[in-house]
Amino acid sequence: MDQKRRDFLTATAAAATLGAAAPLLGQPAPAAAAEAAAAQMPSPTVSVAGYDAPTEIKKIDIINLRELEGLAQKIIPTGGFGYISSAAGDEWTRRENEAAYKRLTIVPRYLSGYKDAEMSTTLLGSKIAMPIITSVMGGHGMAHVTAEAGTAKGTDAAGTLIEVPSQSTLTMEQIAKASPGPKWFQIYFPDDPGVARELLQRAKAAGYLAIVLTIDGVSNGNRETDRRNHFVNPLPQGNFPEPRARGTRPFKPDLGWEDVAFIQKTTGLPVILKGVLSPELAVMAVDHGCAGIQVSNHGGRNLDDTPASITVLPRIVDAVGGRLTIIIDGGIRRGQDVFKALALGANAVAIARPVMFGLALGGWMGVQTVHEHLKGELEFTMRLAGAKTLEEISRHYLNA
Ligand SMILES: Cc1cc2nc3c(=O)[nH]c(=O)nc-3n(C[C@H](O)[C@H](O)[C@H](O)COP(=O)(O)O)c2cc1C
Repeated sequence: MDQKRRDFLTATAAAATLGAAAPLLGQPAPAAAAEAAAAQMPSPTVSVAGYDAPTEIKKIDIINLRELEGLAQKIIPTGGFGYISSAAGDEWTRRENEAAYKRLTIVPRYLSGYKDAEMSTTLLGSKIAMPIITSVMGGHGMAHVTAEAGTAKGTDAAGTLIEVPSQSTLTMEQIAKASPGPKWFQIYFPDDPGVARELLQRAKAAGYLAIVLTIDGVSNGNRETDRRNHFVNPLPQGNFPEPRARGTRPFKPDLGWEDVAFIQKTTGLPVILKGVLSPELAVMAVDHGCAGIQVSNHGGRNLDDTPASITVLPRIVDAVGGRLTIIIDGGIRRGQDVFKALALGANAVAIARPVMFGLALGGWMGVQTVHEHLKGELEFTMRLAGAKTLEEISRHYLNA
């Protein structure tokens, strides 16, 4: 951000304080307690002259997650909405992520004796209420004045986990203080190892439980919508006040396995590689001691014409053979999509754009509603398909 724009900035970051009854970092509270605790906690807010981000905090009425996009479009400024919703090039991969789920069909097992579904699971040591987490997204301030603090709070109120971006509007410390739930810190590895070390050490000190290394973002994608809108994110970069002034590029162009080792050595935290699309790379992640992978094409935002993430999942699952945790993102909009991803062997799914739209429409309560809606659809799918536990969901339920 240049100095002129910085002068415009009116960051009203009131330091959020942890409530006395807050649970320990990384341990989600039971749903009702988490919601009550979230309601008590003040969130920092960020606003910039000339960019009117939404401000409302309320539960939202959701028929389905796809419809949120049109509703959010009415209230997010044009440039910000284009940035959030669009993707690279022809946007084929973005559309294909959703379309590929529709080519998989579910074969129910009736008369299974289903009564209640068990939805909770444990992801790298964190117990969460459902196998659905908030995927990493930069710049939540484009969707709502409470930015990532609102998303973290809403995710926690729903009983699940958030991947917090290095390219956040707020600082990672503000986000960590805004809610006590489990959080992983995502990093785009900067060109300067000193800057990388500082970010990683800050993340560990702030209580982040794992590091997500995005490997498919070594440069920005060809986002034609942003060019058409002449859009440049006007909001602050919480963690990098002036990266260029410090002589570093935000993406290390020659990212390699030595950088994975650097993260492991610097933090001692589990590392998840985000952007894996091939069984070969997944096996290398196992060999290099990664704790997890996120099967992802970045929502089609970086390299268009990469395959839909769900289509590469089965071969990756087979190659890995249970040796690390597998998360998948990209185009998950229905409980049936979550069910299909679990059936093909994912441990959990991550959702991005619907969470940002929920944030715009209702702040932290909107984010909470998005997660609870998707959880409800998964429960409904399990009921109709006859699966009582997450472990029972397998390829036998798919017509493949
Ligand atoms: C507005 C926006 C910002 C994103 N920023 C990041 C980021 O900073 N780092 C990253 O690894 N992925 C980022 N992503 C990609 C998401 O984590 C996810 O891979 C992708 O959006 C697919 O999920 P979806 O179809 O549910 O949106 C971003 C996605 C969106 C929509």
